[in-house]
Amino acid sequence: MITKPTIDRIMEATDIVEVIGEFVQLKKRGANYIGLSPFANERTPSFTVSPAKGIFKDFSTGKGGSAITFLMELEKFTYPEALKWLAKKYSIEVEETVESSENKEEDNRRESLMIVSGFAAKYFHETMLETDEGKNIGLSYFKERGFNNDTIKKFELGYSPDQWEAFTGEALKQGYQQEFLVDSGLSVKRDNGSLYDRYRGRVMFPIHSFTGRVIAFGGRTLKSDKNVPKYVNSPESDIYHKSNVLYGLYFAKKAIREEDNCYLVEGYADVLSVHQAGIENVVASSGTSLTAEQIRLIGRFTKNITILYDGDAAGIKASLRGLDMILEAGLNVKVVLFPDGHDPDSYVQKFGTNAFKKHVDDNKKDFILFKTGILLKEAGNDPIKKSEVIREIVESIAKIPDSIKASVFIKECSYILQIDERALLTELNKMRQAKAKKDHHNQQTPRQQQMPDEPHFFDEPIVEATKDESSQEKEIIRLLLLYGNKMIDWDGIANTYIGPFMIAELSDVEFEDATCKQFIEIYRQEVENGVLPEEQHFIHHRDKGIVDLVVNLIATKYTLSENWYEMHKIMVPDEQANMKATILGAIFHLKKQKVGKILEGLRKELQTTPAEADQEILLNQYMHMKKVEKTISDYLGSVILK
Ligand code: CTP
Ligand code: MN
Repeated sequence: MITKPTIDRIMEATDIVEVIGEFVQLKKRGANYIGLSPFANERTPSFTVSPAKGIFKDFSTGKGGSAITFLMELEKFTYPEALKWLAKKYSIEVEETVESSENKEEDNRRESLMIVSGFAAKYFHETMLETDEGKNIGLSYFKERGFNNDTIKKFELGYSPDQWEAFTGEALKQGYQQEFLVDSGLSVKRDNGSLYDRYRGRVMFPIHSFTGRVIAFGGRTLKSDKNVPKYVNSPESDIYHKSNVLYGLYFAKKAIREEDNCYLVEGYADVLSVHQAGIENVVASSGTSLTAEQIRLIGRFTKNITILYDGDAAGIKASLRGLDMILEAGLNVKVVLFPDGHDPDSYVQKFGTNAFKKHVDDNKKDFILFKTGILLKEAGNDPIKKSEVIREIVESIAKIPDSIKASVFIKECSYILQIDERALLTELNKMRQAKAKKDHHNQQTPRQQQMPDEPHFFDEPIVEATKDESSQEKEIIRLLLLYGNKMIDWDGIANTYIGPFMIAELSDVEFEDATCKQFIEIYRQEVENGVLPEEQHFIHHRDKGIVDLVVNLIATKYTLSENWYEMHKIMVPDEQANMKATILGAIFHLKKQKVGKILEGLRKELQTTPAEADQEILLNQYMHMKKVEKTISDYLGSVILK
């Protein structure tokens, strides 16, 4: 764990404008800076940075937080990774405590594996560029395939000599340990305990993690012998889990974000050629079928995937089912086929960038429609097969979480399939209901099922707390943030701090919203420790939910743009002038709402409880709560002007 003093020093050194300025062009506007959101495609800037508060707020996506949150959102760093990035930028030495010796060892192991992999990439790359064998065999192969020096350098392509111990020998000579050479898969152990090279006489494609470190390799043979495997890839290791790595993502992520689209291809060569052609938002699943983790990985950067298939149709049908997973993840999927015999690599190398782009534009089909077309063609005129096709298509559509999007597909498919739209809708609703029931069953949430037969797929998912309720809770938190560490004067009788006063007053209130509840808990803890937590305490909190909540509350357009009031001719009620009414009003509004909810519950129970004795108890409780409600109402009505 990074120590508290180190974190403090990083926070002190961090200039949020400078950090964000590395990714977003910022312009000064009054006390703040504005720019185009890096999270959305926009023409008018809605992205604001407040150096005074040390926060940013993106009004088009709602994201907001500190410099750390920004790095976590944009670069997908973990909390410690973001801290380390900042430490490096500001040349701060990072002090870490050993969490447990086992963890430390585990971290050291992973680090050692990455170091040896980095060394290997450099060795293969230099061998290819500097030795005769490397130049004559490896480099000339890549040149023949049309890869230029920039591409070769950027992707650190290399060559492993056709000898048993060239790499292993060099690595051991330089002091790398056998254990890591074997576990990374770079060397293989013989029965007698000695090591030999895994990738003899192959051209090497290093595989980078999405933060840019070499974690594995693919080695391609240059022989056409059918008995030699075309690719030899690194085995799974502590640093390489094939199912959550995408080849090329590190080099593609910036473009994916900018283009708001990710091209998905099959092989290393496809990534390299398409990237070299200036289309940089391209990654490969490297021969395996796409996994849920890989989809989630792409989903962090864009919601749009375009899959580029080579012409051979055999593989396509097999992969259709897997693609439903992408729909389920809420992503939009488009598909492009390349003419027979071509893959993206050969196509772009032969016809060039413009022709490639034109081909993609002219031929991209929405996945659902693409699938419908393929299955329909297969079914021909067979009515039974056709009804199977319909089922399968509707099944895919049912996986789309956005119901409006789903209904658009229903419309289009009804046209292609020549089937009444309502029939498809009925089918869709049946599937949705079955799915809802299943989810319901799995989650054990008390959620009522609506009447059948009614097309209710437009229904939004139920939100936990009612909107009004959580907004009352948020109002409390806003006041705690703004005024918690200020004094309130009770008509000259006594002075108290607002924070502890509110916390004490709310001790009998159960917060509904999980994050609000967590916030109150943190605040209570701090108060108990004799501290009045400041805004900054929450802005830099480790928990992203807390940061989001807090930034959303303090970074309203009111506080971030000083001209805003004037622009909209808005009078801000002066809550500070009547602090007492503001604080008590918020507390009692929330209490009243909670009481209302209890009453509502009691009413329902009364209606469904047959036993007279039970009824009487309930009735008593009801009367009592009614009184509480009246007291609160009277209080709100008389004392508080609000
Ligand atoms: N692959 C593999 N093992 C194989 C064949 C393929 O791991 N025996 C993976 C590789 O990641 C490869 C991808 O599947 O990049 C696609 O295979 P293929 O189209 O054969 O490879 P290309 O990269 O297109 O190679 P080339 O164009 O050089 O034939
Ligand atoms: Mn190929």
